[in-house]
Amino acid sequence: MKCRVGVLISGGGSNLQALIDASQAADYPANIALVISNKADAYGLTRAQNAGIETLVIPHIDYTSREEFEAAIHAALLSADIDIVCLAGFMRILGDQFVQQWAGKMLNIHPSLLPKYRGLHTHRRAIEAGDSEAGCTVHYVVPELDAGPTILQERVPIQPGDDETSLAARVLEKEHLVYPAALRLVAEKLALQV
Ligand code: GRF
Repeated sequence: MKCRVGVLISGGGSNLQALIDASQAADYPANIALVISNKADAYGLTRAQNAGIETLVIPHIDYTSREEFEAAIHAALLSADIDIVCLAGFMRILGDQFVQQWAGKMLNIHPSLLPKYRGLHTHRRAIEAGDSEAGCTVHYVVPELDAGPTILQERVPIQPGDDETSLAARVLEKEHLVYPAALRLVAEKLALQV
């Protein structure tokens, strides 16, 4: 049985697309079963619909508290029978209760070589620090932001003349490889546990 994956997005969804593409392979251990966006205009919703995947918009602005917003997401994930949650450019910080409900079953992709550069503006910070390489990390989500155990990491060189845009594009290419690979590992591990 393939794991059922719910993907949370806020924007373009190029990582979502990479997960959808990988999941088309017969031997891939996970299916993208639901995509939830907190933004109604996220292009990732169109990507999901084009692939025939169920989508939901749960706007955070409709809720008076983060807890209620997250309870709505949690209920939607449960009713879709989701096994694994992938954050893919989901631009809301999740609270402890939600994170703990998905402990060991929620992944995030972050555009830096964690533990370096948690949070935002990772590429700019890497260039400003004079780093010779950057990269991306898929990690388990824990309550502390971008601090969970690494599942996979990929490195790219920072080239002379790189700016935030050129570096982000080079890192993003690696993200599209590493996220499906990491999800495969987690889905295979969970399948062994049931
Ligand atoms: C990616 O850079 C990802 O690492 C970060 O947000 C961006 C999302 O891009 N968490 P996309 O929506 O997957 O194209």
